[in-house]
Amino acid sequence: MTLLTVDPTNPDDAALGRATEVLRHGGLVAFPTETVYGLGAHALDTAAVERIYEAKGRPAWNPLIVHVANAGAARALTASWPREAELLAVHFWPGPLTLVLPRDPAVPDIVTAGLDSVGVRVPSHPVALALLRACGLPLAAPSANRSNELSPTTAQHVVKSLGSAVELVLDGGATSVGIESTVLDLRDPAHPVVLRPGAVSAADIAELLGVPVLRAGGAEGDVARPSPGMTERHYSPRAALRLVDDDGIATLVRRDAGVRNEALLVMQSTISQGLMGAFGRVETMPDSPEGYARVLYARLHALDDAGVTDIYVQQLPDGAAWDGVRDRLARATRHD
Ligand code: TXA
Ligand code: MG
Repeated sequence: MTLLTVDPTNPDDAALGRATEVLRHGGLVAFPTETVYGLGAHALDTAAVERIYEAKGRPAWNPLIVHVANAGAARALTASWPREAELLAVHFWPGPLTLVLPRDPAVPDIVTAGLDSVGVRVPSHPVALALLRACGLPLAAPSANRSNELSPTTAQHVVKSLGSAVELVLDGGATSVGIESTVLDLRDPAHPVVLRPGAVSAADIAELLGVPVLRAGGAEGDVARPSPGMTERHYSPRAALRLVDDDGIATLVRRDAGVRNEALLVMQSTISQGLMGAFGRVETMPDSPEGYARVLYARLHALDDAGVTDIYVQQLPDGAAWDGVRDRLARATRHD
């Protein structure tokens, strides 16, 4: 495994050339996107994509997102490109939105896990874009972590999780969005469905398209559609994670003092002196959903590294703006 530092303001040609060589020969390259680090392989090379599944220990039924440099390249991977896709691409790409559309037959089965649709995205991170342009290949890239572990928001997280399973890691610093892209099912363009909430909200999409946007497995009234990868425990630290409301926190605080290998994640605006002594560690979380998402995985990685066994997370504020973070935390509390 080689780790190369790449300056996002001026990605250097030598590093991109090295990455291109690895990818052309069917190897794996981890690279930063604005959401989380991706584990990339040439998407049209079945043997290369197989190596992603091996390196991650990912179940074969969970399809991969294909990253491309521009909307034209995304369109080439699809069998139909509705007006809605074009609008979304113009408005939100490059950016943290993945579109699920009918696939072109050139996309291998292994990428789509045998589905007749493909997820495509143009990432906005300058290193990701520079890499996609330099190599000229569509890159299948899931988050660069072992399956079921926390997603990586730094190159160090990638190295910790994948080690020698990846040939080359491009270190472009900490990612800015911090949680994975919004995945939007556009197979029926009149009825888009958010399969995974992220920084691009259902409301943003609905406003642009002028149609209601449903949320798979979400609140009452929403439809549930099969969405691979969204059923299992996911995005999880090793520590047991629990969401607690303010009464729950008060109860925890009243317990006998003692050394505990546990942590509390609490919103900046509600931090108090009383909390400090009651938990082994108290982590202050930003009050905005964007700020919270940006630091969440790094905080959870750090708590795992410190050997914390239990993480209590103060319940999030209401509101759709918190959907992405709420989804990840809900998944992380599952232990099935
Ligand atoms: O932000 C992101 O999306 C990151 C960066 C690297 O781009 N990637 C990422 O990939 O999170 P991954 O593999 O960890 O998650 C991809 C999600 C999975 O839940 C998968 O089931 C879903 O997208 N997905 C991919 N293709 C799909 C398809 N054709 N139909 C339905 N869901 C799909
Ligand atoms: Mg993932």
